[in-house]
Amino acid sequence: MKLLFATNNQNKLKEIIGLLSDQFELLTFADIGFEDDIEETGSTIEENASIKSKTIAEKFNINVFSDDSGLEVEALGGAPGVHSARYADKENPSGEKNMAKMLTKMKDEENRNARFKTVISLVLNGKEHLFEGTVNGIITKEKRGESGFGYDPVFQPDGYEITFAQMSAEEKNSISHRYKAVKKLCEFLTTA
Ligand code: IMP
Repeated sequence: MKLLFATNNQNKLKEIIGLLSDQFELLTFADIGFEDDIEETGSTIEENASIKSKTIAEKFNINVFSDDSGLEVEALGGAPGVHSARYADKENPSGEKNMAKMLTKMKDEENRNARFKTVISLVLNGKEHLFEGTVNGIITKEKRGESGFGYDPVFQPDGYEITFAQMSAEEKNSISHRYKAVKKLCEFLTTA
């Protein structure tokens, strides 16, 4: 079965290919000649995932999935959430600026609970299915580690003494929010 992954992110693509069984032929934007940007105008992570998959499904009449992720911090009322990528600077976003803003906002905060969340929206034969993966943890007091991207140096998952950025890619990928959502998608697809 042909299935399009609506992303331009090559790392996400590689991760999925490793998990999906050979019964699926994974297509990319290049395969369907799609070069536009899909505006992520949703006010939640779920909405943004849906916008991407539904836009492509309607335009090309194919089976498609897309993902959206974010960091939700309890003391900040769930922020930055859907705005995680551009939290500190909408025009020129960067992980460093986002982390600096996060550490400043959380400076005197005792409740450091946070979670990463990924939502995958699959449109299969015209019907949408949502898959969610989360990982709970805390926002550290300072940055630790060099690996990964985004907020990894300030996020320590529950049950660990190290941040995502102090883990190897393999270790992070085996417990991450994205991995959990992808796994649910793959389990659904192999039984669909
Ligand atoms: P995306 O929807 O996967 O592109 O994620 C949106 C934003 O959430 C990213 O630009 C990061 O700021 C943040 N984010 C999502 N997943 C992670 C992660 O695994 N580590 C660190 N930051 C992440």
